[in-house]
Amino acid sequence: MATIARLGPHDWQEFREIRLRALADAPTAFSMTLADVEQQHDDTWRDRLEQGDPILGVRDDDHEGLAAMGAGWHPPEHPGRMMVWGMWTAPEARGRGHARSLLEWLVDHAHGRGVTTVELHVTEGNEVARRLYEQCGFMATGEWEPLREGSALQIELMRRDLDPARS
Ligand SMILES: CC(C)(COP(=O)(O)OP(=O)(O)OC[C@H]1O[C@@H](n2cnc3c(N)ncnc32)[C@H](O)[C@@H]1OP(=O)(O)O)[C@@H](O)C(=O)NCCC(=O)NCCS
Repeated sequence: MATIARLGPHDWQEFREIRLRALADAPTAFSMTLADVEQQHDDTWRDRLEQGDPILGVRDDDHEGLAAMGAGWHPPEHPGRMMVWGMWTAPEARGRGHARSLLEWLVDHAHGRGVTTVELHVTEGNEVARRLYEQCGFMATGEWEPLREGSALQIELMRRDLDPARS
């Protein structure tokens, strides 16, 4: 059985482990790099989990450690908006619906916070992620930017508008 856990400061080692694994496995899917984060102090990982924005892990009976992660960030200057980041499922746990469940959790959470727009970025050529996001109601915006400074790869902003009446 799989369950979604909202990670807290005491989960920092699991968070660190899955995040490093994600950045090593899919370096073109994320704007942060493994080199950016692998030297981070333990307190930085704990602090991130203390800040209040949701950082989720999937615990799966068949899987040691977290099987998947995903997170939301509420930009303080845009209260009606939430960014989804860090979506990653361990290769051996893919295709079981973990990413879809994480996205649904995050969208429900956004509704509860009065968010009207959920956004995320997808790298050019990442058709598996793009299809997942489209199936979950996100639409391509045509707004592209480099994956990170100096990168030749482009990422596109995808957006899902929420119905404020449902909050
Ligand atoms: C994208 C990713 C998070 C999907 O995770 P997942 O837990 O396997 O996804 P799910 O099982 O919830 O699948 C949801 C949908 O994704 C698509 N999908 C998942 N695995 C797929 C595969 N191997 N081939 C094709 N499509 C696939 C399907 O459309 C699926 O919908 P369906 O169940 O109706 O067929 C995962 O492949 C991953 O971690 N990729 C590397 C990192 C990455 O690209 N992250 C996204 C950053 S934007």
